[in-house]
Amino acid sequence: MKLTLELMLFGLAAILRREAKRPDVAAMLRDRRRVVQIKTRDDKVARSFVFAGGAVFSRRGALPTAEVSFVWRDAETAVRRLRSADPEAVANALADQSLTIVGDGDVAGWFGDLARIARRGAKGAKDLSAAKPAVAVIGLGRMGSGIALSLLRAGFPLTVYNRTAEKTRPLVAAGAKAAETPAAAAASAKFVITSLMGDASVLAVVEGPQGLLAGLGRSSVHIGASTISAGATRRLVALHAERGCAYLAAPVVGRPDAAAAGDLMGLVSGDRSVFDASRDVISAYTRQTQYLGEDPATALAAKLAINYTAATLIDLMGQVYAFGEKTGIPLAALHTMFRMLWAQPGMQGYATRIWRRDFEDLGFDVRGGLKDATLILEAAQAAHVRWDFVETTQRKLARALEMGLGEKDWSVVYEVTRAEAGLAA
Ligand SMILES: NC(=O)c1ccc[n+]([C@@H]2O[C@H](COP(=O)([O-])OP(=O)(O)OC[C@H]3O[C@@H](n4cnc5c(N)ncnc54)[C@H](OP(=O)(O)O)[C@@H]3O)[C@@H](O)[C@H]2O)c1
Repeated sequence: MKLTLELMLFGLAAILRREAKRPDVAAMLRDRRRVVQIKTRDDKVARSFVFAGGAVFSRRGALPTAEVSFVWRDAETAVRRLRSADPEAVANALADQSLTIVGDGDVAGWFGDLARIARRGAKGAKDLSAAKPAVAVIGLGRMGSGIALSLLRAGFPLTVYNRTAEKTRPLVAAGAKAAETPAAAAASAKFVITSLMGDASVLAVVEGPQGLLAGLGRSSVHIGASTISAGATRRLVALHAERGCAYLAAPVVGRPDAAAAGDLMGLVSGDRSVFDASRDVISAYTRQTQYLGEDPATALAAKLAINYTAATLIDLMGQVYAFGEKTGIPLAALHTMFRMLWAQPGMQGYATRIWRRDFEDLGFDVRGGLKDATLILEAAQAAHVRWDFVETTQRKLARALEMGLGEKDWSVVYEVTRAEAGLAA
């Protein structure tokens, strides 16, 4: 396996060198000097990559000057995960710590993007020659426009529709056709993607004589990329089934720039065979897609779970900056601390520990957590900044103590949340 991994890393170096001249890869390399290495924990396999002056240099062996190291538990795990057809294989390796990232998180992210774009570009060149099914995008807001651009770049014949017709112009200039109504857009395509706002907008576009369903062919698929409710999703599935066509719940995670770069995360649920048939289309605008099961509402639940995390983290960061302003912590220092915190394998470790309900591997116990939660609350109160989240955390840590969990890792607050949600112990 050691030799196989060495060969795979050699292959990656060759792809990076070859693709370095491509404009999108060249743009990522321009004016950058970076040193990255990929190795196994025992150092038996190591390859370093040096990026300088727009060129890629690579050699066998580790480099002490590397800004970031991707460290695999062993060669066998690395080969298995890197070869896996599962697009989540590397993310899962990070989650279960068979792969750890040591060093600068920004450089790690940059290298990950570079490797993916270079590899996808190499593959894309072959893919473009194959015939692609016709696709329509309905809704050219910030997300829909990016999704449409990614589909065009991947070579799909594209028709677009938007309520405000001017928004079709840039896409038409890039090679798409504009349709006059949702029905006409749907009639032109095998796959129709909607990227609208909420329940009302999607239902407004789907129903009625000029609506999407009036034009959708029997074997065509409607891929719903908007964030809508579970109730509306079930209604859409039923409406499509009545007409003998398929609706796939496929909300997306990522910002508009990720949509335009083909880098979104897709969350899909619904009929598995419909998902399999839609995979190529969805992968044109996603970096990875998770299939979450047959119940169409599951993808929307997952999307809301991610948005809850994002919304509260955004609010939490603002609360911390406000505290910084009140107490004199330089905001630049807080910014650096946040970046380090999010890149820390320790945070990823908590996600795994909570998922596995494994609270025996003690990092910090509940008593210590409660002491800190109380200190945090007092400091916030003194600064007249409301830190809402810790009020809840303090209450839950106190409850964990009452439940006799005081000696467990403080992530055991999960058990309090589970109990409060009525989940079996
Ligand atoms: N922005 C993000 O970062 C992000 C990330 C992930 C997911 N999302 C989700 O993606 C979806 C689109 O978001 P966005 O940011 O692209 O929104 P946006 O820029 O506001 O675009 C909304 C689109 O929906 C159309 N629309 C709204 N109401 C309509 C109606 N009643 N009938 C017909 N068309 C209607 C708009 O048409 P007009 O141009 O005519 O107004 C526009 O094309 C939302 O469900 C959002 O929650 C957004």
